[in-house]
Amino acid sequence: MLEGVDGSGKTTQVARLTAWLRGRQPRVVETHEPTDGVWGRRYRAWGRGELEATPEEVLEFFVEDRREHVAQLIRPELARGAFVVSDRYYYSTLAYQAAHGVERATLAKRLGIDALPQPDLALWLRLPIELALERAGSDAVEPYEKTAFLERVEAEYARLGLEEIDASGTPEQVEGVIRERVARLIAG
Ligand code: TYD
Repeated sequence: MLEGVDGSGKTTQVARLTAWLRGRQPRVVETHEPTDGVWGRRYRAWGRGELEATPEEVLEFFVEDRREHVAQLIRPELARGAFVVSDRYYYSTLAYQAAHGVERATLAKRLGIDALPQPDLALWLRLPIELALERAGSDAVEPYEKTAFLERVEAEYARLGLEEIDASGTPEQVEGVIRERVARLIAG
């Protein structure tokens, strides 16, 4: 499971890791959150400014989206023995919704982490926020709010104790480090 701010290269790395794993594991499933289900679409509508919602209501979109994701895809696939690679999981909610101003106690209560399947490996692709913004294709001058928001997300990720991967190198370098780590996991 890979985490990180927008522009950290997660999506590229999830695709590369999945391709590499396919030759090594009998069943590999690539997935992402938010999903393309009804709750994920609601979140995207809010992101485009088409829907108004408080930070607590946005939290509900993600909680419901994950409930569906876990019930419909993650649990059944794990039960079939699949190796599931996810682009984001509940750590995104802990980091982003806290950065949006939702109380950490509220997040813990609403997420019900103990009842969720726990990943064997949770990697945080970490890089300087300026680089992430640049990679995400932002304009040269970023609105202060966006930079400040991502810095808050970063600070929240730092509290979670995830294993860090230096994501500031080339895609090939980062891919190599992730592979090595996953190879160790597979070797047990
Ligand atoms: P992103 O990975 O960019 O997905 P997509 O490219 O499909 O839109 O994620 C979209 C945004 O959703 C990203 O800015 C992080 C945010 N997010 C949360 O705020 N909370 C969550 O629980 C999740 C899963 C994502």
